[in-house]
Amino acid sequence: MDNILITGGAGFIGSNLANVLIKNKKNVTILDNFSRQGSRQNAAWLRSINSDINIVHADVRNFSDVKNAASGKDAIFHTAGQVAVTSSIMDPREDFEINALGTFNVLEAARKNDSTVIYCSTNKVYGSNVNDVSIEELPKRYEFSGDHRNGITEDFHIDAHHHTPYGVSKLVGEDVLFASDLIDLFIKEAESEKKIHGHVFNVGGGKKNTLSLIELMEQLKKISGIKISYTKDDWRAADQKVYYSDVSKAMSVFGWEPKVSPEEGIKALFDWTSENRSLFI
Ligand SMILES: NC(=O)c1ccc[n+]([C@@H]2O[C@H](COP(=O)([O-])OP(=O)(O)OC[C@H]3O[C@@H](n4cnc5c(N)ncnc54)[C@H](O)[C@@H]3O)[C@@H](O)[C@H]2O)c1
Repeated sequence: MDNILITGGAGFIGSNLANVLIKNKKNVTILDNFSRQGSRQNAAWLRSINSDINIVHADVRNFSDVKNAASGKDAIFHTAGQVAVTSSIMDPREDFEINALGTFNVLEAARKNDSTVIYCSTNKVYGSNVNDVSIEELPKRYEFSGDHRNGITEDFHIDAHHHTPYGVSKLVGEDVLFASDLIDLFIKEAESEKKIHGHVFNVGGGKKNTLSLIELMEQLKKISGIKISYTKDDWRAADQKVYYSDVSKAMSVFGWEPKVSPEEGIKALFDWTSENRSLFI
């Protein structure tokens, strides 16, 4: 696995992955339409790490561009996407074109090249079915109870009776996974000799690494000394009240486990943000 294409390579996951693959001496091409705020800075950061990186300014909706970028690649990591739930509800056509047609284009390009594809989905594919799982209310958090105590497994039903939009949301309780742990798993998957074609892995920090918004605010106060005041509002359309993945399949197949705890991850993110304040002004 030497020649690699990362769609959405200037995004959060894609640029972190590209950074690791560059350090592992792989030939990396990223394809991104730079629609995401900060994506140009991410691309410039990658260029500063390795001036040889191939950066393709293109859109996954354009098959010819995807096919050209995928030519000769051993593996494609597909991380490009329209990630906002709210946008998917306001403009479902654009969401469909980027996420469904874009993914089809990537798969079709991979088929022509016989490349391995690792694709990022989202817990939002389980939609509001997740809200039917019984939960236990603890003082600062909710947890799943009953059969789903350890989280949502890969066989959880996605044939929702409500909408299942795509993207990343602000959840009341969820598992958190530091980017380096996700990338460690991606590389294990791509290099695996095991027959995992077509397999789905629910990935996250798992039950051990869950965090509620209240707990997050408490940790931020501990790190920064700043008390965060908040008000409670109604659920937004498509919010999942609690979500965390049962990661036991990924753990047993790849011998993988998250190494960075939520506390360490939040501290690292806080320090990075403090050191890079200019990016947010
Ligand atoms: N970050 C998370 O916590 C998380 C959690 C669950 C799932 N995911 C999924 O992982 C994937 C990557 O997430 P991320 O956090 O890196 O998102 P991101 O928004 O940081 O990165 C996505 C990248 O795709 C690019 N992009 C968007 N539309 C495009 C298009 N039409 N053509 C080409 N490039 C396009 C954007 O410019 C951006 O650089 C997404 O599919 C997301 O739903 C992420």
